Amino acid sequence: MQLFPAVDPIPLPAPIWLFKLLHIVTLALHFVAVEMLLGGLLLAVLLSLFRGSPASLVAARAMARRLTVVMTYVINLAVPPLLFAQVLYGRALYTSSVLIGLYWISIIGILTLTYWLLYQFSGRLEKGKSAWWLGLGAWVLAGFIARLLSTNMTLMLRPEAWQQMYSASAAGAYLPAGDPTLTPRWLLMLAGGLFIGGLWMVYLAGRSTFTAEEKRFVAGLGGKVAALFGVVYLAAGLWAASVQPAAVKTGLVHDSLYRFAGYAGYLWLALVVVAVLVGCIAGFAKVSANWLAWTGALVALLTEIAFTVYRDGVRDLTLLSKGFNVWDRVVVTNWGVVGIFLVLFVAGLGVVGWLVSVVARAQKPMEGAAL
Ligand code: HEM
Repeated sequence: MQLFPAVDPIPLPAPIWLFKLLHIVTLALHFVAVEMLLGGLLLAVLLSLFRGSPASLVAARAMARRLTVVMTYVINLAVPPLLFAQVLYGRALYTSSVLIGLYWISIIGILTLTYWLLYQFSGRLEKGKSAWWLGLGAWVLAGFIARLLSTNMTLMLRPEAWQQMYSASAAGAYLPAGDPTLTPRWLLMLAGGLFIGGLWMVYLAGRSTFTAEEKRFVAGLGGKVAALFGVVYLAAGLWAASVQPAAVKTGLVHDSLYRFAGYAGYLWLALVVVAVLVGCIAGFAKVSANWLAWTGALVALLTEIAFTVYRDGVRDLTLLSKGFNVWDRVVVTNWGVVGIFLVLFVAGLGVVGWLVSVVARAQKPMEGAAL
């Protein structure tokens, strides 16, 4: 029996490999921003709650201020992979989205509330007021959004569950149960948040807007968090990989194409180990050198790219084992449109690069000023 809805008769307007490439690149960037939000926010909340030293409040304020900007990247870098995922996996993704429709659409409202709380958190910290409960509220909501996304991204892989869910309720008002991959996958993202959040602090410690004492504090704490949660992240990753179906595990080793996703898994592992070492150097030697800051940032980016490639392989192999081959589509490439898209894409990247360079060149006040 065919488990998936019929394929759209309109052919794809660009090669599948191009959609996949753009999907993986933009999704990896979404994940970097998501992890900075999930981990950085929790760290900022804890730093503002347990104000052990003036430096902890300075660090909390510096992170909270940046998190309102990070949130714009979370959202803007989420739209492209959503569109590419719908083009490539629409038959699976639209179905699962409809099945949890009420929750899925509620993400817009929850996201708006999270954003508002984030601004309140940062605004009160700027005034030197207590604000941890506002930040904690934002973190709980962001964690719930992450849970809903993990729910949908795993439900789209389980066509065998759809019929029963739809028979039970066509209102999209209840969440699926019984998927052993869901919780490890969600916890993997949460652990990754603290790991990336720690590396982000190591990066921040390299900025000249902190005093020498603040730098030592931020590098020391961030390094220890990155090292500790790097290990937790590794454990969560191994757990999430171990609960995948046998067909996926075999494909990641033996399939001629998807064994590269398997290699990406090993690369991810090696990169997390490197990041743990970076964390140890920053954390225990309290080093806040520029090279360490940039190494931490680069390793964080590469880790998320490797993770995204591996995750993509897991999805394709799971779907393949159920009769959905993502490569099996009619393609009639419209090169004119592809060309216009690529020109605009590169121009967009150029504008963002220019914006970043303007921000980098601007004169910045010291982080601890007016506290
Ligand atoms: C606070 C805001 C957000 C958080 C915490 C968040 C978190 C996450 C997490 C944890 C995943 C991975 C789920 C998994 O595979 O287990 C994910 C994937 C994804 N997110 Fe976000 N997200 C946020 C906002 C958004 C928004 C606003 C959109 C849409 C415009 C979005 C679109 C996506 C898409 C499309 C994927 C999966 C893409 C794929 O697998 O192809 N996210 N997000």
